[in-house]
Amino acid sequence: RFTPTPADRFTFGLWTVGWRGNDPFGEPTRPALDPVESVERLAELGAHGVTFHDDDLIPFGSTESERAGHISRFKDALERTGLKVPMATTNLFTHPVFKDGGFTSNDREVRRFALRKVIRNIDLAVELGATTYVAWGGREGAESGAAKDVRVALDRMKEAFDLLGEYVTEQGYDLRFAIEPKPNEPRGDILLPTIGHALAFIERLERPELVGVNPETGHEQMAGLNFPHGIAQALWAGKLFHIDLNGQSGIKYDQDFRFGAGDLRQAFWLVDLLESSDYQGPLHFDFKPVRTDGIDGVWESAKNCMRNYLILKDRAAAFRADPAVQEALTASRLDELARPTAEDGLKALLADRTAYEDFDADTVATRSMAFEALDQLAMEHLLGVR
Ligand code: GCO
Ligand code: MN
Ligand code: MN
Ligand code: MN
Repeated sequence: RFTPTPADRFTFGLWTVGWRGNDPFGEPTRPALDPVESVERLAELGAHGVTFHDDDLIPFGSTESERAGHISRFKDALERTGLKVPMATTNLFTHPVFKDGGFTSNDREVRRFALRKVIRNIDLAVELGATTYVAWGGREGAESGAAKDVRVALDRMKEAFDLLGEYVTEQGYDLRFAIEPKPNEPRGDILLPTIGHALAFIERLERPELVGVNPETGHEQMAGLNFPHGIAQALWAGKLFHIDLNGQSGIKYDQDFRFGAGDLRQAFWLVDLLESSDYQGPLHFDFKPVRTDGIDGVWESAKNCMRNYLILKDRAAAFRADPAVQEALTASRLDELARPTAEDGLKALLADRTAYEDFDADTVATRSMAFEALDQLAMEHLLGVR
């Protein structure tokens, strides 16, 4: 029970299990992991796929022949294990050349290099079967006011996505982009800081249909936002192209805990939402195994990202199937929310005296919404006592 299979669509970034525990205050606490070993271990644990930044697989500065060697070893491992590559992304943040960003660096040469770096990895992503390309603008931002003219930087950001959209269209690639918002870290403030900012930006692009979002649990929570609400709006907009699942406790540095750690109640509502939605993409874990642990903790936490998702899926299903919950939902009038406010039309609404002239606000205000009873039922299902 709660043991995943590839049918569960769980995927992991090479950089997650491969994180060596280096942070701004300390050196790595774990040795480097060979991507081939990560593929093998993830397959054993029941994952469906693996994702990567170009530099996770092919160290920055590799020669052509070194590059070919890394790719061919990786392909062999994928073939042996059956692991898929549904998504890939670009590292536009580690090398010092990206200190002021990639697509929006004030330095035009850096921007041109960044685009070429992305395009090069898009070719590889498509070759490996990926249909989603993630863009996390980790260093697209600033620490001070005059350093970045944000309106102009957004012009450059749009230019980048328009060029990338043109490229995949010209190549005939079956590939869509997913923008990953984050409010800060490593920059003081990052452009497109939340799901909402990203959704509004996408509508300004030349090919908005090619671009959606890749929200990460902890990133919205770093901004104090409700992650399931953000995901619900992305779904509502038809823009949930990918998702980064992890754990975070409140407004602080990006903790990247394993899924289920941190805000457990939001994790429960998130799984409840995803399982009731038409999202069919990967369930991708973007977490960092705590740096206090050895390699044992890496595989323990990877396994438990998936296990926690499956446990929460079981708890959410039990909640939805409980007749007491069905009654409580009706008492809270969720069915009424689902009914249009004026299916009779504007004219009828204006003519309806019960809607205004004869409406008794004081009496209607006394109707309880009964949300406390409903929420306690959820809590008890989550705690496993029902
Ligand atoms: C973070 C980000 C990154 C990106 C990844 C994709 O934790 O700040 O999630 O991990 O998801 O680098 O580019
Ligand atoms: Mn993160
Ligand atoms: Mn992420
Ligand atoms: Mn991350």
